Amino acid sequence: MLAPRDKLWSAPEYVATKALEQLHLTPDDLLVDYGCGDGVALLAAVQNCGVRKAVGYEIHAERAAALRTRVAELGLSDSIEVKTVNALEADPKEPTAVYMYLIERGLKLMLENVLRAAAAARPDKLLRVVTVLYRIPVVGVEPVSSTRVRIPGKADMVYPVYVYHITPESGLGGEAATATAGAAADADASSDASATTGCDDAAGASDAAPALAAAAAGGDGAAAVAAAAPAAAAAVTA
Ligand SMILES: C[S@@+](CC[C@H](N)C(=O)[O-])C[C@H]1O[C@@H](n2cnc3c(N)ncnc32)[C@H](O)[C@@H]1O
Repeated sequence: MLAPRDKLWSAPEYVATKALEQLHLTPDDLLVDYGCGDGVALLAAVQNCGVRKAVGYEIHAERAAALRTRVAELGLSDSIEVKTVNALEADPKEPTAVYMYLIERGLKLMLENVLRAAAAARPDKLLRVVTVLYRIPVVGVEPVSSTRVRIPGKADMVYPVYVYHITPESGLGGEAATATAGAAADADASSDASATTGCDDAAGASDAAPALAAAAAGGDGAAAVAAAAPAAAAAVTA
């Protein structure tokens, strides 16, 4: 399981946008979202961050179809592609940036695909990756930076966000892994992304964080979880 499927736990648009800002996207970027859900990150990437193309993979057929309909209604079908497919079998063409809001196990499972995508990335084979809430739990694959996104007006809703620079050698104990591990040690993990920068803001909180925490603990995210987002954040950063 990459993430809960039956019930959608979507990132707040504000969080998705702030996460994408960490990638410093340009119109030249091709962004991939593995498990794109209702497309919050795909839409933010195109509408708020100006990427030329965003591709989402979603295993829930009705969800993917609904998103395709919405994208068409918004006139964005040239910029956003939604594929109904298991993300583990996805084979994106020359992506340059990746967004993932998945549970830890899902991030680990996706790593092989991400490494393949890095090999196809142009031209330096470096893929910028951002994960929301969880880190990629693989030794040698370390974030180059991290931040905490605080939703305005919801002081207790904090979403950790991690940025990786993935190359085909990442996670294999190569030079890239060593270099990024060093950079991560220098990163300011407590920096705060609540200030407005770049992309537009759109407030809106959800209880996705605790739900995903439950899923990571073995459930499907449907179980009621009393923990608030900061608790989930603390659990994953401890
Ligand atoms: C936590 S939601 C994140 C949705 C969106 N990316 C966001 O940031 O709000 C995870 C999504 O991944 C989808 N998913 C789970 N397993 C998947 C798989 N193997 N392949 C593709 N999508 C999957 C779920 O159906 C769900 O829509």
